[in-house]
Amino acid sequence: MNTLNRVVIFGATSSIAEQTARQLVQQGASVYCIGRNPERLATVIADLKTRAGNSQIIDGISADLTRTDKHESLIATANDSLGGLDAALIAHGSLPEQQKCEQDITLTLQEFDTNALSVISLLTLLANRFEKQQRGVIATISSVAGDRGRQSNYIYGAAKGMVSLFMQGLRNRLHKHNVSVVTIKPGFVDTPMTKGFDKSGFLWAQPDKVARGIIRSMQKGKGEVYLPGFWQLIMLIIRSIPESIFKRLSL
Ligand SMILES: NC(=O)c1ccc[n+]([C@@H]2O[C@H](COP(=O)([O-])OP(=O)(O)OC[C@H]3O[C@@H](n4cnc5c(N)ncnc54)[C@H](OP(=O)(O)O)[C@@H]3O)[C@@H](O)[C@H]2O)c1
Repeated sequence: MNTLNRVVIFGATSSIAEQTARQLVQQGASVYCIGRNPERLATVIADLKTRAGNSQIIDGISADLTRTDKHESLIATANDSLGGLDAALIAHGSLPEQQKCEQDITLTLQEFDTNALSVISLLTLLANRFEKQQRGVIATISSVAGDRGRQSNYIYGAAKGMVSLFMQGLRNRLHKHNVSVVTIKPGFVDTPMTKGFDKSGFLWAQPDKVARGIIRSMQKGKGEVYLPGFWQLIMLIIRSIPESIFKRLSL
């Protein structure tokens, strides 16, 4: 089992990340939170502090994570604040309006910056650091959307797919260095990202449940994890539809 005593969270103001941080703190972890919106971040940190014991460190800093030039110093600051790092969780992301992106290449590339390139930058730096220390857990929230391109969200899906594939390679590279690389693939989660969606039906999960799955997967050092687990079967079916049929579907 991996220990999660000192954890840095990127995109800590995300609803799923906030629930994960709360549960980590409840389990005794020290947490360093990096989020974009300073007011929201201050609220998250203040809430975590009320849940933490005296020996736990709760700290953080505001940053736009598309600024990849700042990544090295953000990780170093988190490391110094916590006195070392056992684990990192990358949670930031945005769900673009597919049709707007189809008409606007600048918007499309911005979405790739947020959902893929900034993540790959963080993964690269974290991988080198954890490889050197010969232990640790790197987890990223990707998505089931990255498993197959669909007309309704292939820009988001392609960015998440890039991250999932990058992490496959990283996992293969870091396995012999005792570093776990965990790809989290949630299905539909009831968070601000999905506001405006019809959330009826059994496919929707609450962020605290997904957070429990994230922590369990990080502790166990799992590879790719679908949350909730039934998405593994759904995506197996979706991936197995031949392309000649799939291209005719309205998905
Ligand atoms: N909700 C779902 O159904 C679902 C399903 C599969 C995967 N996911 C993934 O789960 C992760 C967490 O999302 P969520 O559902 O918890 O949604 P959320 O509450 O809307 O969180 C998204 C977070 O990403 C942050 N963010 C976006 N761009 C950023 C940037 N450039 N720099 C720093 N932070 C940035 C946002 O910060 P601001 O507050 O500053 O905007 C926000 O805190 C995302 O990676 C998402 O793609 C979600």
